[in-house]
Amino acid sequence: MKKIIAITRGDGCGPEVVNEGIKILMIVSEFTDNEFEFKDAPAGGEVWKKYGSNLPEQSFNTIKQSDALLFGAIGLPDLQPGVAESAILKIRQGLDLYVNLRPIKLYNILREICPLKDEFIGDGIDITFVRENTEGLYKNIGKLEEDSAENLMLYTREGCERIIKYAFEFAKRKGHGKVTSVDKANILKPSQLWRKIFHEIAQNYSDLEIEDIYIDAFCQWLIRAPFKFQTVVTGNMFGDIISDEAAFLIGSLGMASSGNIHPGKVSMYEPIHGSAPDIAGKGIANPIGTILSVKLMMEESFNSPDLGNEIDNAVEEALSEGRTVDIRSRSLKTLSTLEMGDLIASKLKNRLKT
Ligand code: NAI
Ligand code: MG
Repeated sequence: MKKIIAITRGDGCGPEVVNEGIKILMIVSEFTDNEFEFKDAPAGGEVWKKYGSNLPEQSFNTIKQSDALLFGAIGLPDLQPGVAESAILKIRQGLDLYVNLRPIKLYNILREICPLKDEFIGDGIDITFVRENTEGLYKNIGKLEEDSAENLMLYTREGCERIIKYAFEFAKRKGHGKVTSVDKANILKPSQLWRKIFHEIAQNYSDLEIEDIYIDAFCQWLIRAPFKFQTVVTGNMFGDIISDEAAFLIGSLGMASSGNIHPGKVSMYEPIHGSAPDIAGKGIANPIGTILSVKLMMEESFNSPDLGNEIDNAVEEALSEGRTVDIRSRSLKTLSTLEMGDLIASKLKNRLKT
């Protein structure tokens, strides 16, 4: 079955890491029944400079007509913040991508570069954040005046229900034992609605344990006992912050992947890092966040958990032989972006051939 994958390379290190993601997709298409066709959908700062739009209509049309989007990163230091980056919000809102899925897994072999002491890592870190991606403060309803400013934290029943249901279904599919909900129901009204709906939906999943934690306490637990968590569901703003905190635990921002998803519709997969202007063009960016985003694409958009596993295992094998600079190890070869991608691709090829 042929799938069309829209490709947004973006700015800075975006094109470098996306090339390695494509490499993995090519191996998948060569050694499995999947067939992919790639279609460029340029967006971001460089595109804005050329055409005066950070998401030209043609690009958005290409994305809408695809089966999935692989997205690098956008943003340029010589542009005002937001000029390039608002393209991401346009895509999220335009496609109603209400799930922001952010897995945070510490590979055993990277335990030594996790900033936590070994006792706090415990049995290991393998958490998936399910962040609401369309409501709350990020709807950007508000006003900025000379002496005051406001934003409306608006949540709807429909918006809460669909993300919380997704989280429970995700936990069930992954064989997790528990779903943790993070809110601030002791202060915020939207959190009180959220918590009520969380408990309503939990009734339909009696074999899953549930837990409510306030956001402030959660920030502590995440570094004191990250091994306690599996699926964590939360609102838009809290999710943005805690998933970045969590990304720090796995060795490098360059390792973290994400999906912006509307189940059954075209969804967007991207590393969580930005365009990294400080290292762009040097060929040293870590491509693993992008490669693991391809893994998410296989699992969430193409219903291929086995392929997702193979990619995950290929990454882990490669990490025992070579590393990019950000996760370098004295005893292993330091690799460029391209070499790291090649190594993972060759591991994947060996796994799929047999
Ligand atoms: P950043 O994520 O680009 O970089 C933060 C730090 O992490 C830098 O030291 C960078 O070198 C390092 N880093 C990032 N990706 C890496 C990788 N793959 N391998 C190794 N090291 C890596 O965040 P920053 O500097 O705040 O933002 C740069 C630009 O990116 C800005 O214009 C920002 O708005 C934009 N941005 C775009 C995002 C997106 O496209 N989704 C997300 C976050 C920021
Ligand atoms: Mg963020």
